[in-house]
Amino acid sequence: MNSTHSAIAPHSSVQTAQYELDDLRAQLRARYVMQEPEVVNLLMGQLSLSDASLDLIQSDAADLVSLLREHNKPTMMESFLSEYGLSTPEGVGLMCLAEALLRVPDAATIDELIADKLESSDWAAHLGQSSSPLVNASTWALLLTGRLLDDSEQPTRSLTALLKRVGEPVVRTAVGQSMKLLGRQFVLGQNIQQAIEHARALEQKGYTYSYDMLGEAAHTFDDAQRYTRAYADAIEHLSHVSGNSIREKPGISVKLSALHPRYEYSHRQQVMSELLPIVSSLARQAAQAGIGFNIDAEEADRLDLSLDVIDALLQDPALAGWDGLGVVVQAYSRRALPVIDWLLAATRLADRKIMVRLVKGAYWDSEIKQAQELGLASFPVFTRKSSTDVSYLCCAERLLANREYIYPQFATHNAHSVCAILRMAGNDTHSYEFQRLHGMGESLHERVHQQHQTRCRIYAPVGAHRDLLAYLVRRLLENGANSSFVNQIVDHRIAPETVARCPVREVRNASSIVHPAIAHPLDIYQPQRANSKGFRINDPASVEPLLNEREAFVQTQWSAAPLLHDRAVLPPDVPVYSPNDASDLIGHVREATADDIEHAIAVAKQYASSWYSTPATTRAGYLNDAADAYEAHMAQFCAVLCREAGKTLNDAISEVREAVDFLRYYAAVSCDHEQKRQARANEENTAHGVVVCVSPWNFPLAIFTGQIAGALAAGNTVLAKPAEQTPLVAAQAVTLLLEAGIPSTALQLLPGSGQSVGARLTSDPGIGGVCFTGSTAT
Ligand code: FAD
Ligand code: 2OP
Repeated sequence: MNSTHSAIAPHSSVQTAQYELDDLRAQLRARYVMQEPEVVNLLMGQLSLSDASLDLIQSDAADLVSLLREHNKPTMMESFLSEYGLSTPEGVGLMCLAEALLRVPDAATIDELIADKLESSDWAAHLGQSSSPLVNASTWALLLTGRLLDDSEQPTRSLTALLKRVGEPVVRTAVGQSMKLLGRQFVLGQNIQQAIEHARALEQKGYTYSYDMLGEAAHTFDDAQRYTRAYADAIEHLSHVSGNSIREKPGISVKLSALHPRYEYSHRQQVMSELLPIVSSLARQAAQAGIGFNIDAEEADRLDLSLDVIDALLQDPALAGWDGLGVVVQAYSRRALPVIDWLLAATRLADRKIMVRLVKGAYWDSEIKQAQELGLASFPVFTRKSSTDVSYLCCAERLLANREYIYPQFATHNAHSVCAILRMAGNDTHSYEFQRLHGMGESLHERVHQQHQTRCRIYAPVGAHRDLLAYLVRRLLENGANSSFVNQIVDHRIAPETVARCPVREVRNASSIVHPAIAHPLDIYQPQRANSKGFRINDPASVEPLLNEREAFVQTQWSAAPLLHDRAVLPPDVPVYSPNDASDLIGHVREATADDIEHAIAVAKQYASSWYSTPATTRAGYLNDAADAYEAHMAQFCAVLCREAGKTLNDAISEVREAVDFLRYYAAVSCDHEQKRQARANEENTAHGVVVCVSPWNFPLAIFTGQIAGALAAGNTVLAKPAEQTPLVAAQAVTLLLEAGIPSTALQLLPGSGQSVGARLTSDPGIGGVCFTGSTAT
């Protein structure tokens, strides 16, 4: 496959084409593990815009910004969000409120939420700051209460006084109303008939629409059916709207997550057998209606799976000859350009033409946060906005170079991106279109539409308020972020040249490609400790290496026996079967005898003082090494956790990560405590001596390890008694802990039942402490 921006050469054979397609898929996945600077540098190298062109684009864009500022007043929403953006505590409070409010079921909690998010904020500080009279005169407090105060009255510094004066139910209703008001800005109609009606005015001015039936991430089949019906119903209505071609007629935008509650890679088979027929049937309906059918891009871990669905739609013979299938590509994704290359190859292989909507991506904040939370090897998106903008330009170049196969749809509200497209696309203004969201970018696109006679399609959400929330939050984040174009254009303190700055130069001049303020997923707890490594089970690029490694353990039989200092025991004898599958023999266990227990207690007592006097940093070093060893054995642990404890893969990964976190956490805090103790010249022995750790079956690795790590880090010797249902997991854990350097005098394993082993251990008078997690009865 040609990897430059030039058009694609014809294929020699279908077989080669299929081979190339698979290869491109592999390349696309490989981007996942590439370092961010490498990806950005590749893009910078591929962009063919000259410096002179970049200058022209920047100057066009700066002029456009000035014109818009001069002639078009920002909408109330734009002013509002520029004043209460995400860089102020008040803005953050409002975003949290918007995000949470509609999901809170009862009035009392809503009141507490409002008080919590809004009370302490300094609303008065925003007075006079906005260019909008409405935003200024009222501030948020006034807006909230639907003008409960006179304009002449000073707005309250906090909501406390307001709450006292008007009462909580009034404020609650007002906040709810305000959120609805915000929401209404972004929705064209409550139903498709209403939306089609509302669309007429702009259609007469030459705009077209793509309707998005609100609803996504269906949690139940009932929801998915409801959303599917809404789409089918909308397509039926749209088939009656006149227009000569797909490009002139309205279209539909679909989120696959709305059509099936398990639109996840881990349920790929179900997706292909249940979701695909639904999409296929909607697409056929759209083809018959002669309208475009666009598949929205959603979270990064849906990307790979969405390509399988798209591939199947491209090969569907019932859709042959129809050019209305649309795909969305998110430029903020490291995989964006390879996705376009794959789409080009797939389209040609199927002998089809498609539409590609290029966006920057609406899930940036959650992608970053989720990657950090999951401890991923890398972010799926860029960390600097300028890198996303450069990626947008590269993708645009690739799309424009292949207009023979693709009808590009450039969805952006950014004047620089728009001016770049205008320069790159040349005179054929009918070979592509711009797109904007309903309620955003009106004046920019109106100006461009009039001046250049370019097509413009408006993405218009349709539906009830209850289904708006996720979409609304994305719009609030997009408008409220001070890095976004829509936020900057209304802030007159920022010069037009700065608002329209060239992303390519910005990347060239950046001190680092990786944004220094965005902690790498593995560094979020630094300087204290490294985060535990995780995987995205719904992204093959992330999870497949783990799945492959786990294969080696599908038939392994493990063993668990007492692990004692200086005492041999007989081999395990009692068979252990999987709770998932009674025929799956997963190993054998030998329980600790009364003599084993006595021996273990004696050893633990004898060596308590030597373990305690081992420096805290040495003890911590063992725990940290054990954490690394746990991570290295992730696949094996996942296998045994699934087979012995009946865990799902996702739960197993989380469990190993929690255990790793415990090890590193206790290692770090114990050193910290020790330092403080030494600073106070405290000579006192603060350990308990021998600690018995009794853990449950539901977290056989995490709780088991957490108890042991805490007790060991604090200088106690440990006797560990795992749940009788899960000795195999425990044995592997203790083996790794010992291999990491923890002396067998400090840690001994005693498998067995609660009545025999647990009772004996905890009732021994020589025991200094017990860590216990389990049932109330036990
Ligand atoms: P800009 O202000 O130039 O860009 C803002 C964007 O930059 C952010 O949204 C984010 O993507 C990116 N960004 C911000 N900060 C950073 C950072 N630190 N590092 C890297 N990147 C950063 N989005 C989807 O995800 N799926 C869709 O299917 C989809 N459909 C759309 C359809 C239409 C018609 C339109 C107009 C938008 C659609 N969007 C979709 C939303 C789109 O992603 C956002 O509107 C878009 O990102 C805003 O880009 P911009 O060029 O208007 O603004
Ligand atoms: C979103 O739903 C517009 O598809 C984009 O945020």
